[in-house]
Amino acid sequence: MTTRPIITLPDEKTLRQVSKPIAQVDAATRALFDDMLETMYAAPGIGLAAIQIGVPLRALVIDLSKEGEDKRPLFVANPEIVASSAELSDYEEGCLSIPDYFEMVQRPREITVRYRDRNNEAMELQATGLLATCLQHEIDHLNGVLFIDHISKLKRDRVLKKFQKAAKLGKL
Ligand code: NI
Repeated sequence: MTTRPIITLPDEKTLRQVSKPIAQVDAATRALFDDMLETMYAAPGIGLAAIQIGVPLRALVIDLSKEGEDKRPLFVANPEIVASSAELSDYEEGCLSIPDYFEMVQRPREITVRYRDRNNEAMELQATGLLATCLQHEIDHLNGVLFIDHISKLKRDRVLKKFQKAAKLGKL
């Protein structure tokens, strides 16, 4: 397992890519999952999509366990949201690719996701609360969508400018 550098804004060229489906979850995919998990734990974060370490494949990892609890990693390949509740919930979201920025985002409260697990088994998961939010946030990454796309244009432009300016000044 290796910790890999996390791609952050202003690198929209990478982060806006649409990731490709994984033909089969094999040893190479599992090695990718392991690197993603280690990178996420080191950050630390609760979710990471492959594109955030520069790999444009439809893979994500999530672990919502709290400090001191046993780790509960979730490995997800080729996720598809097959149902979403009409009811919405608000969460203050952040993203390892947009460091130190948090904003309220509204998303469906409950979703059903089909995916392949670490052993290439077809799975279906019904998620609610933080897990539902986290899955939607990470699945967005696979489509080149960032959580700031769900906030006002004014706020989004302000964040993008801040990161562009910091990069220009060599602070990133
Ligand atoms: Ni993110």
